[in-house]
This record gives sequence, structure tokens and C-alpha cells, in this order.
Amino acid sequence: MFQKDLFKDKVVLVTGGGSGIGYTIAKHYLQLGAVVYIASRNAEKIEKAIAELKEFGDVRSAIADIREPEQIQKLADKIKADSGRLDILVNNAGGQFPSAAENISFNGFRAVVNNNLIGTFYVTQIMAKTFFIPQKDGNIVNIIANIFRGFPGMAHTGAARAGVDNLTKTLAIEWVRYNIRVNAVAPGIILSSGLDTYPPAILKGITDGIPNKRMGTMDEVAYPVLFLSSPMASYVSGETMYVDAGNHLWGDQWKM
Ligand SMILES: NC(=O)c1ccc[n+]([C@@H]2O[C@H](COP(=O)([O-])OP(=O)(O)OC[C@H]3O[C@@H](n4cnc5c(N)ncnc54)[C@H](OP(=O)(O)O)[C@@H]3O)[C@@H](O)[C@H]2O)c1
Repeated sequence: MFQKDLFKDKVVLVTGGGSGIGYTIAKHYLQLGAVVYIASRNAEKIEKAIAELKEFGDVRSAIADIREPEQIQKLADKIKADSGRLDILVNNAGGQFPSAAENISFNGFRAVVNNNLIGTFYVTQIMAKTFFIPQKDGNIVNIIANIFRGFPGMAHTGAARAGVDNLTKTLAIEWVRYNIRVNAVAPGIILSSGLDTYPPAILKGITDGIPNKRMGTMDEVAYPVLFLSSPMASYVSGETMYVDAGNHLWGDQWKM
């Protein structure tokens, strides 16, 4: 679908690239010629992913917790030493759990916001200051979620992702002077490893509320990420692209 060498010699960091959507995004960048660093907290998971992905191209390990600025800076230093530059950051790492708002503990709420919003900011600022700002060139794609009508059933991640949605707009304007584009992709319900932790009762009949009655695939999330970070989207910044078959306009995200 995309030209074979679209990302030739580009250096890409995909957080959460060891599994699910991030893994699939990493695979596509590799197939299109990029050098790809995949980040996660779990070294074993990353080694397994690298063993599978290396047939597609130059994939490298990036062990770091996005909640820990010192680890992120060390990762940036490693990428600088090994590759000399970074061209594209995909902020995909994240996680949450379904719960009625009144049952979310303060610790649980803080943990999700800390990971999905604050961790994303740490990675973004550190990669921008280490690479994109001095290079006067960079590209950021934030993976958020369907927060268009709030996020009933997951108040913590709704609040955190809305924060990233707003950050996407702000940074797109503040950093235009450094030639950095910032966009977001908001997936609907995607058949991925991320759903493994959800109770089956929540997922039962979930496709009834999706306009085209099916979940999205991981490839269907990866394609818009590739597009937004490519020269084909050189006049697109500050946008959030919903990848949910119109679910943000109609239908239930979760059964309440
Ligand atoms: N699947 C969906 O329907 C859906 C819909 C909307 C949005 N999303 C979002 O899309 C992203 C990918 O989801 P997925 O479905 O592919 O789930 P997944 O397989 O659970 O992927 C999440 C990845 O994030 C990494 N991660 C989480 N916290 C991290 C941290 N503090 N530091 C570094 N890495 C961390 C995890 O790796 P480690 O645990 O090894 O660190 C994991 O590889 C997530 O942000 C998810 O919330 C998913």
C-alpha cells in the first residue's frame, strides 16, 4: 500500500512496541525501511519480539519505563549513541482497566493518569529536547482512545487520553518553529493483546455497538500512524484521527 522505502534510514521509537498495536506498528515501519526501537518495561517480551521482527528489518531493544524520566533519558542517550538521531516517536505505551468511576481507587486513578498522560509527556519532552528540537525536525504520533463523548466505564483513561489529545494540539503549535509535527490516532475497539486483561463479560456482544459490527485490526491502526508520520501528511499537524469505523459518532463503547 505504501511505497517500499518510504521510511528508509528513518529512526523510529515505538513505546509499547513489544506487543499488540505497538508491535504491529513497529513491523510496518520495519517493512518500509526504518530502523525501529521498541520500548517496554519487560526485557523478555522485547527479546521475543525482536527475535520475531528481525526478519523484517533492523529492530532494536529499548528497555524503559515511560513513568521514569531517568530511564527515558538513558534510552535517548542510547539511541543517540547507536543511531545519532530520532525521526519519529510513536507514543503507544499505556494501559487501563474497566471500572465504574465510583469504584476507582485514588491510587488506581493516579496510576493510569501517571502512565498514560504523564509518562507520555516525559517521553515526548525528552525525545524532543534530545533529538527533534536540535535537529529542527521530528514527528510525533500519540495513540489515545475513543474519548470523543467521554469514556464511560474508564474515567481514568478518558481523562488521561483527553490530556494527550489536548497536548497534541498544543505541541503542534508550540513546536511548529522546530519543524515538528504532532498528531494523534484514536483507536476504537481493536482486537489486540490489550483486550486480554478485560473480563469476557465486558467484551461479550461488544461489536453490537460498533457501526460496522466488528472490531478493528491492529493493521488498521498502524496504517494511519504510518500516514501521519510520512511526508504524505506534511501539512497535517495537531489532528486526532479516529480509527473506529465511526464509533465516536454512534454506538456504545462499552455496555454500562
Ligand atoms: N486494544 C484496544 O482496543 C485499544 C483501544 C484504544 C487504545 N488502545 C491503546 O493502544 C495502546 C496499545 O494497546 P494494545 O491493545 O496493543 O495493548 P498492549 O498489548 O497491552 O500494549 C501496551 C504496551 O504498552 C507497554 N507499556 C505499558 N505501560 C508501560 C510503561 N510504563 N513503560 C513502558 N511500556 C509500557 C506494555 O509493555 P510492558 O508491560 O512490557 O511494559 C505493552 O507492550 C495502549 O496505550 C492502549 O491503551 C488500545
